[in-house]
Amino acid sequence: MAYQEKLALFGGEPTIPPGTVQPWPLITEVDEAYVLASLRGANHAFGPNCVEFEKEFAAWNGNRYAITTNSGTAALHMCVAACDCSEGDEIIVTAYSWSSSATCILHHNCIPVFVDIDWATMNIDVDKIEAAITPKTKAIIVVHLHGLAVDMDKVMAIANRHGIKVIEDACQAHGAKFKGKKVGTLGHCGAFSFNQNKNLCSGEGGMFVSDDEEIMKKARMLWSFGETRTPAESRDYHAYALGWMYRNNDLTAAFGRAQLTRLDMYLDWQKRNVQMLAEQLRGVPHLILPTEPQDHEHNWYNYVLHFDMEALGHTQDASPFRDKIVQAMRAEGIETVVWQRFILPVMTVFQAKNAYGHGAPWSSPHAQPVDYSPEQYPVAQKHCDTHTCLVMTLRYPNSAETMEMIAAAVWKVMENVDQLESA
Ligand SMILES: Cc1ncc(COP(=O)(O)O)c(C=O)c1O
Repeated sequence: MAYQEKLALFGGEPTIPPGTVQPWPLITEVDEAYVLASLRGANHAFGPNCVEFEKEFAAWNGNRYAITTNSGTAALHMCVAACDCSEGDEIIVTAYSWSSSATCILHHNCIPVFVDIDWATMNIDVDKIEAAITPKTKAIIVVHLHGLAVDMDKVMAIANRHGIKVIEDACQAHGAKFKGKKVGTLGHCGAFSFNQNKNLCSGEGGMFVSDDEEIMKKARMLWSFGETRTPAESRDYHAYALGWMYRNNDLTAAFGRAQLTRLDMYLDWQKRNVQMLAEQLRGVPHLILPTEPQDHEHNWYNYVLHFDMEALGHTQDASPFRDKIVQAMRAEGIETVVWQRFILPVMTVFQAKNAYGHGAPWSSPHAQPVDYSPEQYPVAQKHCDTHTCLVMTLRYPNSAETMEMIAAAVWKVMENVDQLESA
């Protein structure tokens, strides 16, 4: 393909007409029926749809227990508490993710210890985990980032050797598999998100999952005021432990249940779109495509493109030059976004070491000093500075025609990238 054309950014014809990308998620009469029935029902708090949603999601994912929450972050905090992490304990987590993959650790007065990522998978570098373990380490949070599972054989072997727990942040990874098993069934407990952008969307919301009854019971206490009985049972309104109010509501659960009826179809569709797109993007100059390692089944929540800044001669100004390319792609009509622009350890909440005031939790007498110098995470920083993502364009009902247009637009920008040099 040779597109020696003027980029849309400089007044050329955009490759993708406005309005091409279809909105997410699809709303049908199924969603309307579920939500209307809930609205007309008698219980708008933790109602019958919440109870059914837990059962249906547990069955879909292959977990013994599921607890519906008002966010993925709430479910992550429940995981931390349920794994018996106490003030000053250390929890290992990736240096690159959504903020709450790590702030959930602070929520429970524990101390995050960051580990750099692996360039190929963009997940925590499993070969660097063991060096980060100290006598204070209580758990590892693995984030199956962008929908690609972490190598759980390696993580579980390390955890078992050291007697620590493994929490799966599966917020982006619905249906992703490692060695044929779905995420959320591989560690001790896990968290899913159902926010607007997720493959299972209920507006906001989340799900705690586990196969361990003790862990599930501890999570349930934190979830609902420290009580031991759910609102579906007869409550005694006694706070047996420190609790939050992380429950879901009936309308949101009804929406989630309706979307769950189509989740497998959505995921299959997305995979097909990615296959078509990847085929057409092969050979684009200076573009590095994401991979799916052996034993992994990606859900392609987020299709991450890297620009080869060494080859482009922009190692010193990688991030500003990446922004120019992204601007050019967006001008062509590609709905692409830079995801997290900051690695986690540089975020102010961690650098300031003052989450709860008075330096807590880092000032706890149970804690030991930790170092968050950014130089320790060069791979995460490189990823941060050189990537862009395709998210909604890959979703149902976008299809082959849209993939062709995206590919044509990417080729056009990358074959004419020199036009951006003096811009
Ligand atoms: C990797 C990851 N972890 C945690 C979360 C938090 O989920 P929520 O927004 O439902 O609290 C998200 C999504 O925002 C996420 O992408």
